[in-house]
Amino acid sequence: MKRNALSNVHSDKLFEQVYDYLLERITRGEWRAHEKLPSIRTLAIELNVHRLTVFKAYQMLKQNRKVYVKEKSGYYVLPNNMLPLDSQHDPIVSAYVQESSLSEIHQVKAVYQFSIALLDPHLLPNQFFSEYVKRVFDLYPKVLGTYSTIQGDRELREALCHYFTKRYHFYLSADELLITSGSQEAIDLIARVLIKPRDAVLLERPTYSPAIDVFRRQGANIIPIEIHPHGYDLDRVEMLMQQYKPRLFYLNPTFHNPTGFVVPAEQRKRLVEIAHKYKCVLVEDDPCPDIYFEEKPPLPLFSYDTAGYVIYIRSFSKYIAPGLSIAMIACHPSFMSYLIRAKSLSDSGTPLLNQKIFLHYFFCERMQKHLAKLRIALAIRRDIMEQELSVTDWKWSSPTGGFNLWIRLPESTPMESLLSKSIEQSITFVPGSIFDPQREFKSWIRMSYSFLNEQQLREGLKRLVHLSRTLHPEGNPSGD
Ligand SMILES: Cc1ncc(COP(=O)(O)O)c(C=O)c1O
Repeated sequence: MKRNALSNVHSDKLFEQVYDYLLERITRGEWRAHEKLPSIRTLAIELNVHRLTVFKAYQMLKQNRKVYVKEKSGYYVLPNNMLPLDSQHDPIVSAYVQESSLSEIHQVKAVYQFSIALLDPHLLPNQFFSEYVKRVFDLYPKVLGTYSTIQGDRELREALCHYFTKRYHFYLSADELLITSGSQEAIDLIARVLIKPRDAVLLERPTYSPAIDVFRRQGANIIPIEIHPHGYDLDRVEMLMQQYKPRLFYLNPTFHNPTGFVVPAEQRKRLVEIAHKYKCVLVEDDPCPDIYFEEKPPLPLFSYDTAGYVIYIRSFSKYIAPGLSIAMIACHPSFMSYLIRAKSLSDSGTPLLNQKIFLHYFFCERMQKHLAKLRIALAIRRDIMEQELSVTDWKWSSPTGGFNLWIRLPESTPMESLLSKSIEQSITFVPGSIFDPQREFKSWIRMSYSFLNEQQLREGLKRLVHLSRTLHPEGNPSGD
């Protein structure tokens, strides 16, 4: 939240920008009636402006009957200035420079792509896929001549509601679902609807890198919270929510990307309670709950939510049919109309053909049986990766699902040379700093075991281990 960020807002005077910013947050109800606002000093530091600027903004708020002053105490919110959640203004589209760090790595052509957390296309049931495509054209002969509705095909949304009721006991109506073109689009829509410049956003550290890029582009003030093998330090989450009043917490609690960690059920329930207390929306991104190698993961946070504070994003893209790019958002109706409006600005609905193919393909018995085979195939690939890397002194927690190993290399490893030399040898992986809002994690890398076949995995890993030893001979226990 720096001065140059403030100057992106269309307002002539700095104190007016601070005024707009504070008023927006008061209107949204981030501080309740009669709640004390941050001190002039705290805000001046936070916004990187002079104290006099904050003082002038507060005076203007007082003049306009938004706040009142208590002698020797500070500024307090006057009642009746907050709007209900569903009366927020339209989103601002900011002019921030757009970055996409992960996609840059993905563009590197290589034989051994440990950087891609997608399924090996050979693991998909390609032979029977074409049968479903044909069936869709027979059932809906005019499918290519029609747009979907913006919210998504009703038949698909109803089938998904039925699926969620059966599987998780979520009781949803089709009106509470929005079909998106991948969960990447879902994150983007949510950010556009909920985030304006300088809003605080909690992000896990590390986290899914494109989410950092999306929230940064919105001008968010990113507040990191560490994720550990057994979840979060919930006292810290609460402290951060109290201190920064984040608008949302974006999280990926099931087979987290990049670490593979799973947030336990007790924490999920508590997290929903904390979020409710501090009016912080939890954006739960859930791209691979079916890819478990031991027991099924806990229920999504969404299933603990009764007050509408969880927005649930579910992708069906990564292991069902990446080429169809189908995902969905389930949320409280108060958010839905804003999301539909935002989606209508980016496309005319996710392609109907893709939605219909997905509908017939995903819910068929064959596909559900195929998922069981997929879990076994991926568990074998995880084991191969762990076996090949066991000769190194690299460290990781063995994932119980998902697509990746999150690995710590010795600090002395020259990471940049390792990456550039790997690329020369047609090997890619993702450096850990890309997943960190603070761009640290310099000794960490993400290695995906899902994209290469078993033979390629073994060959590529042997080459990578050999290469790392040439750069870092003291990390080689056997000395070769
Ligand atoms: C946590 C997370 N969110 C979102 C996505 C993007 O998914 P989609 O392919 O549905 O856009 C991914 C893909 O890797 C992911 O890991």
